[in-house]
Amino acid sequence: MKVELAIIRGGEKRLVPFEYAPREEGERPMALDVLLQAQATDIPDLSFRYGCRNRTCGLCTVDINGRPRVGCRARVREGDQLSAPSTLPVVRDMVSRRDGIARQLRGRVPSTLRGNDLDVEAPEDYHALTACIECYACLDNCPMHARNFDQGIERRDENKAYTSGNPFSLLKLQRIRLDPVATREDANKALNAAIELGIDACYDCPGCKCGVGIDLKRKVVKPLVDASKALLSED
Ligand code: SF4
Ligand code: SF4
Ligand code: FES
Repeated sequence: MKVELAIIRGGEKRLVPFEYAPREEGERPMALDVLLQAQATDIPDLSFRYGCRNRTCGLCTVDINGRPRVGCRARVREGDQLSAPSTLPVVRDMVSRRDGIARQLRGRVPSTLRGNDLDVEAPEDYHALTACIECYACLDNCPMHARNFDQGIERRDENKAYTSGNPFSLLKLQRIRLDPVATREDANKALNAAIELGIDACYDCPGCKCGVGIDLKRKVVKPLVDASKALLSED
């Protein structure tokens, strides 16, 4: 099975053909299988990330034909093209920078909140949001995240590079609002952070898609949009 791999070095991108040798008849490999075989054979210095190989760590996200997929769970077909996620700055080959997104929440998320105490009952939606594996597949086609590119996402000062949010950061903020151990002040801070990060971009947006099937539209965006509109109408 022939595929193309985007080799990106020093900002230059080359599309390199790779012929995957099936390990058994009729095998439909995952993107990560293809990358591992390419590295073990033709392209020993191919760079990519992975961890659990079981859709848990979120590290292996790559674009397949320009759309983000969780690499250890996304099957590849003849002629597919694999590249680094286009939604984040590329370091090399399939590896993109992930640290700026996490920094975006620094100072906006209460440092005292370390997740839910297991003895405290939490609403069902809170538990649904804990399924996030931080794969960043949801950044695809997000108009709010796109504002970061307009504002210079590849600035050297990473603390200033991500001034606009994305579905993942909204999920984290909504999770705080649902966390039974969060104070009212924590919840208000989370809502204000969503407004600061540009939740107005969601008002007319058809919505976002999660790589592992979390209902972002209903469980994250809608409650935050409703609450932000209510708060802003009070002013
Ligand atoms: S609904 Fe909001 S977070 Fe989701 S893709 Fe649209 S702008 Fe981004
Ligand atoms: S919300 Fe879904 S797509 Fe986005 S980072 Fe979490 S698991 Fe990945
Ligand atoms: S390797 Fe962990 S999610 Fe794919």
